[in-house]
Amino acid sequence: MQRVALVTGGTAGIGAASAEALLAAGFRVAATYAGNRQAAEAFTERTQIPTFAWNVSDPVACKAGVAKVEAALGPVEVLVNNAGITRDAMLHRMTIAQWREVLDVNLSGCFNMCSAVINGMRERRFGRIINMSSVNGLSGQAGQTNYAATKAAIIGFTKSLALEGASRNITVNAIAPGYTDTAMVGDIRPDILEQILKSVPAGRLATAVEIARGVVFLAAEDAGFITGITLSINGGRYMA
Ligand code: CAA
Repeated sequence: MQRVALVTGGTAGIGAASAEALLAAGFRVAATYAGNRQAAEAFTERTQIPTFAWNVSDPVACKAGVAKVEAALGPVEVLVNNAGITRDAMLHRMTIAQWREVLDVNLSGCFNMCSAVINGMRERRFGRIINMSSVNGLSGQAGQTNYAATKAAIIGFTKSLALEGASRNITVNAIAPGYTDTAMVGDIRPDILEQILKSVPAGRLATAVEIARGVVFLAAEDAGFITGITLSINGGRYMA
């Protein structure tokens, strides 16, 4: 049986690596993106994974988008809530817009997408939901009160939905990646990144593929007894 997996923010970085790893593991995969159509088209050309554009912060768009994916591929049985953004600033300089944007995409986006798939999963009595948290949601990070708040909140959200889904064979887990070699980390000022790397015992960034390893693990058929956990993949930077 080929299950359908949907990865948000799935055309670049950790999302793209997750989508490709799920495809290699035998899933039918769809990926969403917010705005970069050119990158999405190049991704589809390279991987044959179909892409769909919508903003996860919009609940109506999420419902309509999931309906489109399901019409094209079949019911979504694996959801990877990977879409996320940063708007880093020290709190004393953070604008309300920077605060809200990050909450809307990272946290409300996770709620919106889960809402769009949960009834189908409950009816079919099967689901795998994997929510992307972050090491910084566990440890905190100066300059990221907004981002870290969403990534910590995702852990509470995950545990709560795990409790709701357990009796219906729906697992809900989080992954907390460390600093990973993606465009998001590429945006950090080089001198600051150098400092951050000194705090990683492994002495390097993760690769996106190393994070995707966790996604495939949690999506697996025989991962049905793993629920409510936060899987840290951070090179030893923070041990929760
Ligand atoms: N701890 C404590 N204080 C710190 C600090 C730290 N880690 N980093 C900076 N500061 C202090 C500075 O010493 C400075 O103090 P003074 O004003 O007293 O001199 C003050 O904060 C301002 O620092 P900057 O000069 O760096 O300020 P800035 O406005 O130029 O930059 C910033 C602020 C954008 C937040 C910048 O510090 C930054 O980029 N920090 C890194 C944030 C980060 O790690 N983001 C992760 C992005 S990747 C990601 O999020 C993926 C994931 O899940 C891991």
